[in-house]
Parts: sequence; structure tokens; C-alpha cells
Amino acid sequence: MTRALLLSFSPHGKAAHGFKLGRALLRDLLPQAEVTERDYGGQALPPLTREYADALTTPGGLNGDATAVSEQLIVELEACDLLILCTPVHNFTVPAALKAWIDHVVRIHRSFTVSPQFEKVGLLHDRRTFVLVSSGNARKGHEPDFLTPYLTTVLATIGIRSVDFAYLPAMVRGEAAVNHSLEQAHQQLSAAISTGL
Ligand SMILES: Cc1cc2nc3c(=O)[nH]c(=O)nc-3n(C[C@H](O)[C@H](O)[C@H](O)COP(=O)(O)O)c2cc1C
Repeated sequence: MTRALLLSFSPHGKAAHGFKLGRALLRDLLPQAEVTERDYGGQALPPLTREYADALTTPGGLNGDATAVSEQLIVELEACDLLILCTPVHNFTVPAALKAWIDHVVRIHRSFTVSPQFEKVGLLHDRRTFVLVSSGNARKGHEPDFLTPYLTTVLATIGIRSVDFAYLPAMVRGEAAVNHSLEQAHQQLSAAISTGL
């Protein structure tokens, strides 16, 4: 049975269009899946503490309460074999809510290590991952996209390389534009999820 983790990083939480699309796809295409939903946009994760920063940057300092939230998020991630991240674009890149998740999950000696050649090497198993990206602008050509390359690099750093992006552009341009974006993304994701799992 598929274990899916569906995460929202939108201030609209579970009411975000991207999240609702992800939920509908899981319901329709993988009705047997065990789905865990989290709203890390509407209910933000705690900020990094000084203890957490010190734990990550001090040799042997990785145990204890300082890493409790990080550990919980990594365990939650490890438990899924299908990951769906639903995120808006904020100022050309990931929103602060998603950056907070990244800073908790990308943890040295836990989700990645560093080789003798100073390369970061992922320690998590790869898993099928979809990133649903909502934006106000049309995606291509109108403005720089720092989200896609950044998130691709971050996920690869912890070992997640089977990543597909689906874009919901023009989401501030009225109902017709929103519906068009949702239909396009639905088509793309239906095909990918049906064939890939
Ligand atoms: C703080 C903020 C910054 C934004 N920056 C961008 C941006 O750089 N590019 C863009 O296309 N849309 C931008 N938007 C628009 C959102 O990406 C768009 O409204 C999106 O559909 C929101 O998705 P959500 O409902 O899942 O949060 C921004 C919105 C906010 C609130």
C-alpha cells in the first residue's frame, strides 16, 4: 500500500488550490493509499533555535531536545513512499514556511553527510516526489525561477531525486485562468501518478 505524505506550505494551508488538487488526485488515483496531511504553511513550523544551530555545527552535538522537531519531520518523511509538496512562489523562490521545513529536514549526519571530497551525500531513500507550484505570474519567461533549481538541489542533497514539478501559473488572474491551470496540472499529474506508482 502506498504511504503518501501531502504537505502544504501555503498561507492558505489546506484551502490552497495546489493542496486541494493533490488531495483530489490521491483520492481518485490511489484510493487505497494511506495519506498523511500536514499544513506547514497556515500553521508554521517553529523557527530554528540557537540550540539547534549549535547542535548542527558542533561535532557530536546532535542529540537531545535541540533536534526533536527536526527528527519528527525526518521520521515523517522517511515513512512515506510518495511525497507531494504543495507550495506557492514567494518572491521568485520558496516561501519562508518551506524554507523552515528544509532547514529542519536537511540535517548533517542524519539526512545527509559530507564526503571526503566535501560533497553532500543524501542519506534518505529516494522516493517518488511531486512538487505542485502555484504562482501569480505565468511561469516561463516572465520572471526568474529560483524555486525549481533550488528545491531540486535541496531534495537531491538528502537523496530524493525522483522529483516531478507541476506548475499552476497565473493563479491571480481570475477564475478562468485558475481553472485552466488546475486542469493542465491535473492532466500532467494524473498521467504521471498513474504510470509511475
Ligand atoms: C509574499 C508573496 C510573494 C509572492 N511572490 C510571487 C512571485 O515572486 N512570483 C509569482 O509569480 N507570484 C508571487 N506571488 C503570488 C503567489 O505565488 C500566488 O498568489 C499563488 O497562487 C499563491 O498560492 P497559494 O494559494 O497556494 O498560497 C506572491 C504572493 C505572496 C503572498
